Amino acid sequence: MERIFGRPIVTQEQMRTRIRELGRQIASDYAGKDLVLVGVLKGAYAFYADLARAIRIPMQVEFIVVTSYGPGKKSSGKVKVVSDLTEPIAGKDVLLVEDIVDSGLTVQHLIKTLSKRKPRSLKVCTLLSKPERRTVDVDLEYVGFKIPNRFVVGYGLDYRQQYRNLPYLAALDQADEREQESA
Ligand code: IMP
Ligand code: MG
Repeated sequence: MERIFGRPIVTQEQMRTRIRELGRQIASDYAGKDLVLVGVLKGAYAFYADLARAIRIPMQVEFIVVTSYGPGKKSSGKVKVVSDLTEPIAGKDVLLVEDIVDSGLTVQHLIKTLSKRKPRSLKVCTLLSKPERRTVDVDLEYVGFKIPNRFVVGYGLDYRQQYRNLPYLAALDQADEREQESA
């Protein structure tokens, strides 16, 4: 798989360093609060596992499974909760953990849904953000990396449910070019 993608957009080392920083920041911001770290699956699974272990304060671990896209690269514009949290979040300090914020529709929908359950606070931490692609205005408290408008895979992110296990972040168009080169 590494041979298909070649050079990473974000390397494992860059990822480790940035996640350590985010973890420290979040631990300090949430000290003494009632943190519930909510991972948005499937995309956030890799980031979540690393981030949660970098936040050295007590927390609750929760996940929500959503589908926001069709099978390919284009947004369906619809967000569906496929599997919900296991516990109420009323009075808790909820931090949503996302893989990537693109149009912003997924995060906007989740904020709307979860804020009805009256958490004390509700914020967003995303590994990646593509600011150029935003169609709705969303508040992102923590952003790992801002990236240009390219379709990326690896470290949890997929293209047609593949490449999530690539240990770094790569651009899909790079792979397309390479496939054409070798064809
Ligand atoms: P949004 O609702 O448009 O912000 O899109 C959020 C979701 O779209 C993410 O959680 C991803 O599942 C998917 N997505 C957006 N851009 C990419 C990308 O470059 N690679 C892989 N998935 C992406
Ligand atoms: Mg996806």
